[in-house]
Amino acid sequence: MRITIVGTGYVGLVAAVCLAKQGHQVTAVDREPVIRGLRAGVLGIWEPGLEELFADGRASGNLRWETDVVRASLDAEALMLAVGTPTRPDGHTDLSQLHEVLAKFMHHGDCPPLIIVKSTVPVGTCDELEVSLRETGLRTEIVSNPEFLRQGSAIQDFMYPDRIVVGCQSPYAEAELRHLYARIDAPVQVCDRRSAELIKYAANTFLATKISFANMMSDLCEGYGADIRQVMAGVGSDRRIGPHFLQAGVGYGGSCFSKDLQSLLTSGKLVGLSLPMLEATAHINEQRIPRFIAKLISCWGNLQGKRLAVLGISFKPNTNDVRDAPFLTLLKQCQLHGIAVQAYDPVVQHVPYDGVHVADSAYTASVGADAIMILTEWPQFVSLDWARMAQGMRQPIMLDGRNLLPNKAVERFLEHDAAVYIPVGRSVVSCWGD
Ligand SMILES: NC(=O)c1ccc[n+]([C@@H]2O[C@H](COP(=O)([O-])OP(=O)(O)OC[C@H]3O[C@@H](n4cnc5c(N)ncnc54)[C@H](O)[C@@H]3O)[C@@H](O)[C@H]2O)c1
Repeated sequence: MRITIVGTGYVGLVAAVCLAKQGHQVTAVDREPVIRGLRAGVLGIWEPGLEELFADGRASGNLRWETDVVRASLDAEALMLAVGTPTRPDGHTDLSQLHEVLAKFMHHGDCPPLIIVKSTVPVGTCDELEVSLRETGLRTEIVSNPEFLRQGSAIQDFMYPDRIVVGCQSPYAEAELRHLYARIDAPVQVCDRRSAELIKYAANTFLATKISFANMMSDLCEGYGADIRQVMAGVGSDRRIGPHFLQAGVGYGGSCFSKDLQSLLTSGKLVGLSLPMLEATAHINEQRIPRFIAKLISCWGNLQGKRLAVLGISFKPNTNDVRDAPFLTLLKQCQLHGIAVQAYDPVVQHVPYDGVHVADSAYTASVGADAIMILTEWPQFVSLDWARMAQGMRQPIMLDGRNLLPNKAVERFLEHDAAVYIPVGRSVVSCWGD
C-alpha cells in the first residue's frame, strides 16, 4: 500500500519503519528540521530496535521523507495522522497540529481517499473533521485507528499488538485497514469511530487508575507495616485482575497518561459528567512526589545545603522521553525547597532546565549526596556497586522510588555506617536493622 504518515515522533516514526518493513511504500512527513535530521540518519527518539528498522527501510527503498505533505500524498492510497495532540491550559485537547495538516489538503482541493487518525483524539473528533472536509468538497473517508504502543517497547508493540482497533463507516475503509495490517497477527476490532476514539482513552485511564490504586494501597501498607509487593502479587495473580500496572512507586508520567486523563475529564464535562474516579486517579498521582519529598525532609530535618542524587530522568526505562516525567515534578519540588539535584540517566544526557547537574555516571552523581533517589527503573541500576555508591555519599540515605533493588543490593548499601533504605509501601530498613 502507498501510505503517507504525518508526524515522525514516537508513534509516527515507529509506524513508518514497521509498515515499511512489512512491504508498504511509506512516505514520512514532518517539519523541515526533523526531516533534515532523518535524511542525515539522525533519529530524534530512542527506542530499542528503531535504528535497525530505520536502516532497513532506507536500504529497501520502502521509506522516504518529505516536508510537503500535499506533494508526499499525490499518489498515496491513505494518509495517516500521527501528530501531537497535547492538552491546552484550559484542559481541552489542542487539535491544531491535525487541523494544520488538513487545511493544506482543503486549500489544495484534493486528498487521499482515506485518512487514518492514529493520534489520540477526543470522542467525536473524526466526525467533526469529516464534516469540515465535506464542506470543502473533499469526499475523503476518515478512520479512527488509535495506537496502543508503549514507549520503550514500541517496535515490539506495533508489530505484535494485543488488538488493532478500527473505527470506520464503510466496508471499503475496513478492507483498506485490514490490507494495511495484513502482516500483523492480531485480532482486528471493527467498530464505530466514536467507540474507537473512546477505547483509547478508556484503556489509558484504566491503566493510570491501576497505578494509582497500587500507590494508594502502598500508603496503607506503610501505615500498617505490610509489604505492597506481597499485597499486589496476591491481588495480581487473580486472573480477573492481572499483574500489570500494579507496581507502587513515584507515580505515572510520560506524554500520554496525564494528558489523556485530562482530555477525558474535559469530554465528560462537555456532557455534564464529572468522572470522579479519574479525578481521584489524578489526585493520587499528583501526591506521589510530594510524599517522597516529605520523607526526605523528615530524614534530614534541616534542608540547608542538601544535595539529592537522582537516578533516572526519562519517565520510564528504554526511552529518552522526559515529557511529564516524575523527574520534572521532583526537580520543581527540590527547587522550591532549595535542594540541589545531581542526576544520572543511561540515555538522557541533557535536560533543558536550571538547577540540575547531569552527571556522566551513577557513581559521579552520588558523590557528596545527602540522599539517592531511584526514579526510573532502568535495569542497569540493579547491578551498580551499591557499597561504592554509599561510600561516596555525605549521608547514605536511599529512597527506592520503584522498589527496584533486590535484597543483595540493599545489603551492600547497608554495609555503610548509618545507611538507611527507604522503599515504597514497605518498612524502612537501616544498617542497625528494621
Ligand atoms: N508516545 C506514545 O507512547 C503514544 C502512544 C499511543 C498514542 N500516542 C498518541 O499519538 C500522537 C503522537 O504522539 P507522539 O508521542 O508520537 O508525538 P510526538 O510529539 O513525538 O510527535 C509528533 C510529531 O508530529 C510532528 N508534527 C506536528 N505538526 C506537524 C505538521 N503540521 N506537519 C508535519 N509534522 C508535524 C512534530 O514535529 C512531531 O515530530 C499523540 O496524539 C499521542 O497522544 C502516543
